[in-house]
Parts: sequence; structure tokens; C-alpha cells
Amino acid sequence: MGLSVNQLIHWGFSDTKIFFTSFGNCVAIDNNASRGVASPPNAQAGKPPILSIDNLAVSYGAVAALRGVSIHVNEGELVSVVGPNGAGKSTLMHAISGTVRPDAGEITFAGQSISTLPTETRVRKGIALVPEGRGVFPALTVAENLLIGAVTRLGNQAAVRIATERVLDFFPILRERQGQPAGRLSGGEQQQLAIARALLSEPRILLLDEPSLGLAVRIIDEVYLILEQLNRDGVSVLVVEQSVMRAFAAAQRTYVLRNGLVELEGRPHDLVSSERLEAAYFGFARQQSPSL
Ligand SMILES: Nc1ncnc2c1ncn2[C@@H]1O[C@H](COP(=O)(O)OP(=O)(O)OP(=O)(O)O)[C@@H](O)[C@H]1O
Ligand SMILES: [Mg+2]
Repeated sequence: MGLSVNQLIHWGFSDTKIFFTSFGNCVAIDNNASRGVASPPNAQAGKPPILSIDNLAVSYGAVAALRGVSIHVNEGELVSVVGPNGAGKSTLMHAISGTVRPDAGEITFAGQSISTLPTETRVRKGIALVPEGRGVFPALTVAENLLIGAVTRLGNQAAVRIATERVLDFFPILRERQGQPAGRLSGGEQQQLAIARALLSEPRILLLDEPSLGLAVRIIDEVYLILEQLNRDGVSVLVVEQSVMRAFAAAQRTYVLRNGLVELEGRPHDLVSSERLEAAYFGFARQQSPSL
């Protein structure tokens, strides 16, 4: 990878030397790093899973994207899945939301198998995806984009209005910009819009595919504060990221996905202090950090 120190930013946890590229990709982890990553207390550890994925396999023709993945999210938990390009993160999100069909395996939500249900039914049951790249419609106004998220309530205008107001209370910038085309929003504002749109279906679990992609560090901080607040308010969250650090700092549990397989699972604090993390993420254990 050969990145120089100049290409790195110090993440800002006191007493740590964890370095990431400006897009948040992990490039080196100091042995003392675990001091800086205090996993949030996991009060949800003993709760039943709201989402269970067992032995999930998905392929695109000859390409095996997921090769027997098992993960779960407990009720009220914030879980992250990290992995490099092509690990299968987006495929996992699409399989949960129902936009790709698994070859094998089982997806259970709130105690019921949803493996064969169409996407719209999964949304109605409480699964909402904020897709990679946000998926906002740039030519539509902010209000029109939000209305798309309220599709499960169309026909009940009062319910749409109440839900929209509640979401706009949470995202004041979107209230100010309601009449503007979404394409004129900044990247961070578009990410807020994508999350707000997902919230309009009142999800029990929010799936987010690389919400930090392409955003400045300060904006990523704001997005993650929003996710943590939603989680405190009772929404279960499953977030996938290439950025190890960001996903580790927020999550109560983390999975490392690579080549369509779960390589590692645990509390972020334990994983950061584990020598196996780099091997799981990169696929090889480096002898030294070449650029530090
Ligand atoms: N529509 C598709 N057709 C064929 N192959 C695909 C398709 N979508 C994904 N793949 C392949 O499946 C594998 C997993 O892709 P996926 O997009 O799930 O990875 P990812 O972890 O989300 O990667 P990234 O970090 O780049 O977003 C990759 O090898 C990818 O090339
Ligand atoms: Mg992806």
C-alpha cells in the first residue's frame, strides 16, 4: 500500500497512534491503539436478535460474493461490518433488504424468515436501507425525496405529514432546504437526506452502506453522532464501512468481512488489540508498517 505519513491523518483519539487515510481506510494500527477505542457498553448483549443471517451465500453468475456468512444484530444494538473493496458488504446489505436473491442461507427478522419476501414487504416490516452513494434523486426537491421514503404510508396523508415533521425536527437543515433540488445539497446534507428518507418508513433496523464515503472527517463525525442518537432512541443499526476506525468507534460489536466470508467478530475494543485484525482485514499479516 505504501502510503506516506503525509497521506495520513491522525484520528484524534488521545493516547493512540491509529492512522487512517483521508477516506478513513485503516493503514496502520499501533499496539497501544486499544487504549483509545472504548467499545460502547453493550446493554443489548443479552437481548434477542432482531436480525439473524445464517450461512448466506450470494453469487453474481460465476462471482461468489458471499460464501456462507452468518451475522446477527440484537434488538437495540449498533453493529458494524468492515471490510475492504469487494468483500461483499453491499451484497450483504442488498440481500437483507431483498434486492438480491441469495443462493442459500436464511435471513430472519424479528423471529420470522424474510428470505423470500419482496423488498417492499421487508420495508413495511421495519427494514430500511441507506444505500451506498446515498441514492437521493438530485432533480427532485428535498421534500419529494422524503415523500419517496414515506411510500409505505401513502394514502394516509396525516400519517405522512406527522412522520415527515418528526424527521425534519431531527434534521433542521433539511427543513430549511425542503423546496430545493436535492442535487444542490452538500454531500453531508445529502447523507442526512438519505438517512431521513429511510427513517420515514419508521424502521426497526437501519442498514447503512458506507455512510462516510466521500465525506470530510468533520461531516462523518456529524453523521455518526446522528446514528448514535438514533440508536439511543431505540433503532437497531447495522452499518458497513471500509473505514475500520469510524465503524469501530461507534459500534458495540463488529464483524470483519473479506472475500465473502466473516474473518473475525467481536467487540471493537477486543479486535483492535487483536493481532488478527490486520490479517483478517488485509488477508496477510504485515511484518512492519512500511511508512511509519
Ligand atoms: N452486479 C454485479 N455483478 C457482478 N459482480 C458483482 C456485482 N455486484 C458486486 N459484484 C461482485 O461481488 C463482489 C462483492 O461486491 P460488493 O459490492 O458486495 O463488495 P463491497 O464490499 O461492497 O465493496 P466496496 O467496498 O467496493 O463497496 C465483488 O467481487 C464484486 O465485483
Ligand atoms: Mg460496497
